[in-house]
Amino acid sequence: KDDSTVSITVVGASGDLAKKKIFPALFALFYEGCLPEHFTIFGYARSKMTDAELRNMVSRTLTCRIDQRENCSEKMDQFLNRCFYHSGQYDSQDNFAELDKKLKEHEGGRVSNRLFYLSIPPNIFVDAVKCASLSSSSTNGWTRVIVEKPFGRDSESSAALTKSLKQYLGEDQIFRIDHYLGKELVENLSVLRFSNLIFEPLWNRQYIRSVQLIFSEDFGTEGRGGYFDNYGIIRDIMQNHLLQILALFAMETPVSLDAEDIRNEKVKVLRSMRPIQLDDVVIGQYKSHTRAGVLYPGYTDDKTVPQNSLTPTFAAAALFIDNSRWDGVPFLMKAGKALHNKRAEIRVQFRHVPGNLYNRCFGTDLDQATNELVIRVQPDEAIYLKINNKVPGLGMRLDRSNLNLLYAARYSKEIPDAYERLLLDAIEGERRLFIRSDELDAAWSLFTPVLKELEEKKIIPEYYPYGSRGPVGAHYLAARYKVRWGDLG
Ligand code: BG6
Repeated sequence: KDDSTVSITVVGASGDLAKKKIFPALFALFYEGCLPEHFTIFGYARSKMTDAELRNMVSRTLTCRIDQRENCSEKMDQFLNRCFYHSGQYDSQDNFAELDKKLKEHEGGRVSNRLFYLSIPPNIFVDAVKCASLSSSSTNGWTRVIVEKPFGRDSESSAALTKSLKQYLGEDQIFRIDHYLGKELVENLSVLRFSNLIFEPLWNRQYIRSVQLIFSEDFGTEGRGGYFDNYGIIRDIMQNHLLQILALFAMETPVSLDAEDIRNEKVKVLRSMRPIQLDDVVIGQYKSHTRAGVLYPGYTDDKTVPQNSLTPTFAAAALFIDNSRWDGVPFLMKAGKALHNKRAEIRVQFRHVPGNLYNRCFGTDLDQATNELVIRVQPDEAIYLKINNKVPGLGMRLDRSNLNLLYAARYSKEIPDAYERLLLDAIEGERRLFIRSDELDAAWSLFTPVLKELEEKKIIPEYYPYGSRGPVGAHYLAARYKVRWGDLG
């Protein structure tokens, strides 16, 4: 019987992420019996709060899943009773030493494992890591630290951050989170590709014409302008979430499903990527727009954003992987805020069937005749394949129809939130879905030069109205590589 304890300290406990994601995910894990028998949760932040006040705050964020209504409130009480609070500064060793003392009381002399979740702004990261790791240096179990992006804002600052963190932690203690890796459909990507004969042999330049990675949100930066303006959409979404998906999509077959084997392949593919040309990037920024009598504010209407900000809230880019599998295949990325819908998807466009007997049935538009595999990460998780099909009837007319796997229709169980999977992995020491430092370096090496160029040349973003489909420049970019954005029909 495992008698060890796990204490989970949420540093930055009164922040948005803690309230919206971390505490609810911990509760869901508790509900499902995934947390170890002896566990304690501590909230740590600057504001003064009692345990009861923290519990009250946390309780407002907890919900029961549809199939979990039964004894849910009882479970909530049990969970809340395991939650405590300690108020302290993020850079105070004394305050962390007080926390250490409280943790020790809870650990009761058992083998003590500690997980710190740093949900705090980047400028206080290193101080907090230092204090947390030093205060836990006398424990006899493991100490792990989950860190949230931004991991720097370019190659240099990211390397400096890694160097500072490594003064206090080993690489095996650092869990760099990219919550997109915890999403069900992203996790499924390798299953789809490597365990289906109808896909695996086609996963290369000979059969795939283009791959599109699309992220859109139908709301603006809303209150996060201060953070966002310093980063922009390329650093916020492309350099991490979309690039991670690309790496998983395009990597060679790993030796095994072991974390290091997978991360080795991801690094290789990232390092095979061609430097991004400025010409292959389109940037945009949303402007206010009135629709149905409602005024939707522009990006620079946010009080925390400078009036003359050139920070992109939209970007599209063409990327290439210079290896034998993907030579010449454009990987088109598109990410934007304040667009017409909320969506994240991967679209794989296949080539034409050579000498297709039915070409004439499609008229002149051969693009209509190619297969497309769509992996919709969110919302309404789905995988569908567009195929050519004969319209029933006496004539010979073809149309494109979907072979459709809609998760909501196929699986009754609700899909866990990405943070549940990732927190559980961190507790279990599973690193497969966390970013290794060399992956991070490779990701920054790819984006840093073009980010610098955009900023040094003060490239003006193309403006687009709030709620629109984004700048037209994105269409020209795709057209240059003879592709059409699949999400626009
Ligand atoms: C975060 C970004 O990493 O991901 C946000 O910083 C973005 O700007 C968010 O809104 C999107 O996450 P999700 O899971 O809601 O798609």
